[in-house]
Amino acid sequence: MGTLLRGGMIVTATESRRADLRIEGEQIAAIGENLERQLGDRVIDVTGALLFPGGVDAHTHFDLPVGDFATADDFASGSLAALFGGTTTIIDFATQFRGETLMTALENWHERTRGKCLCDYGFHMAITDWREKTPDEMAILVREKGVSSFKLYMAYKQFLQVDDGILFQALRRAREIGALVGLHCENGDVIDVLVREFRQQGKKAPWFHPRSRPPAVETEAVNRAIALARMVEAPLYIVHLSARQSLEAAEAARRQGLTVYVETCPQYLLLDESRYGSDGNCSGSGGNGSSSGGNRSNIDGNHSGRDGCCSVSRSIDGSDPFEGAKYVISPPLRSKEHKEALWSGLARGAIDTVATDHCAFFYRGQKDKGRDDFSRIPNGMPGVEHRLGLLYTYGVATGRISLNQFVSLTATRPAQLFGIFPRKGTIAVGADADIVVWDPATGMEITNDNHHYRLDYNPYAGFRQIGRPAHVFLRGRLIVRHGVLIDTTPGGRYLFRESSRILY
Ligand code: URP
Ligand code: ZN
Ligand code: ZN
Repeated sequence: MGTLLRGGMIVTATESRRADLRIEGEQIAAIGENLERQLGDRVIDVTGALLFPGGVDAHTHFDLPVGDFATADDFASGSLAALFGGTTTIIDFATQFRGETLMTALENWHERTRGKCLCDYGFHMAITDWREKTPDEMAILVREKGVSSFKLYMAYKQFLQVDDGILFQALRRAREIGALVGLHCENGDVIDVLVREFRQQGKKAPWFHPRSRPPAVETEAVNRAIALARMVEAPLYIVHLSARQSLEAAEAARRQGLTVYVETCPQYLLLDESRYGSDGNCSGSGGNGSSSGGNRSNIDGNHSGRDGCCSVSRSIDGSDPFEGAKYVISPPLRSKEHKEALWSGLARGAIDTVATDHCAFFYRGQKDKGRDDFSRIPNGMPGVEHRLGLLYTYGVATGRISLNQFVSLTATRPAQLFGIFPRKGTIAVGADADIVVWDPATGMEITNDNHHYRLDYNPYAGFRQIGRPAHVFLRGRLIVRHGVLIDTTPGGRYLFRESSRILY
């Protein structure tokens, strides 16, 4: 007794073909033209639909404690939103807090998912502290625990940042044990200085957040990461890359023989620095949507000249300059030039994956803790539900990327890099039956309240979406049917991830 999907267009990273697909149990049992219905099969007519492999979002932060609070989404709400959007697998960041062992951190994250996660999931391990046992623990994680990738932060000086010595040791150890290191590339020391200076000058509106982390701060860290990886010949995965010059640096390193993978996120493709609104000064210029200073920012924090006096509580044109807090993420949103460079990077294959960095904080009660000081605004925004829809609409439907590139970026490549391919990330006989039946004929507008994650705003409100997941299967189980969640079982399974075979 299985499920027969009849008449759809099956899209993988390499081909698109009209064929039937039969699911038996948790796997794809057959793909072909005019497949026979077997006794007891449920038949679903998917004529006109596109069949994608379930999305793999390799960058989420669910239930992450940050300062005084945790992210708005835990594994229940975050995974539910993921499934609505066609993502059936997430790879979240188990995070070691200073003083903890990696094993403790892993146990903590398993505990957070227990009885909660609706989609399949794996963990990267974020290393924030280098202890005597860390190299051994890294090997145990890879060989015995299914954690084959690590993340280290070159920013967030006070709590997550590690120094170059730790980066060097982690990359070298990863090379030895066949793991992949992902780096958050921003120079945290420089950011620390710029933030301090802005605060001393009373420049505390969200508008100053991107000014404290200009593109050069990211590009320097990308170049340093590349230099360190080259010293030990380790492959490198750059998470949430946002700036044109950083992409150019990664491509140059690749041309010189280093294995560098690049991830970007929908926010860097679709939103820009105008979202930070105004600087809250009293000059009368600026206001929501009109800021243009960031692309002129340089390392000393000089920019458009509108940063004179600042009272964050003052609004110059009726809009609240604090609304920019919704977009306080790191790296920050950039100018349009960078967006275009990233789109062109996607088109020419210079970017491997599109993940979301879903790290949601309520506007009221969390983001607004930084109303008087942008450096106290928790960094992060949501996205897990919108990744496929946005990339399909603004990538595929506009002709910027092909359908096959779309599948590669959202499912195949992350599955390959993070050791779950071909079980995940493709449509093939024997693969998990994680299938998104995409109806390209419908559409919707994203609003502030039609998402399924837990948040009192939506950074993409007003964006139109072409197509949406009509049905979503997770390992053969129909979870979303005609756009409605019909199975709320927390049946997500932990994925023991292999070392990626394509890395070395
Ligand atoms: O602002 C962001 N990106 N928050 C999430 C943590 C991170 O840096 O990935
Ligand atoms: Zn990061
Ligand atoms: Zn992140």
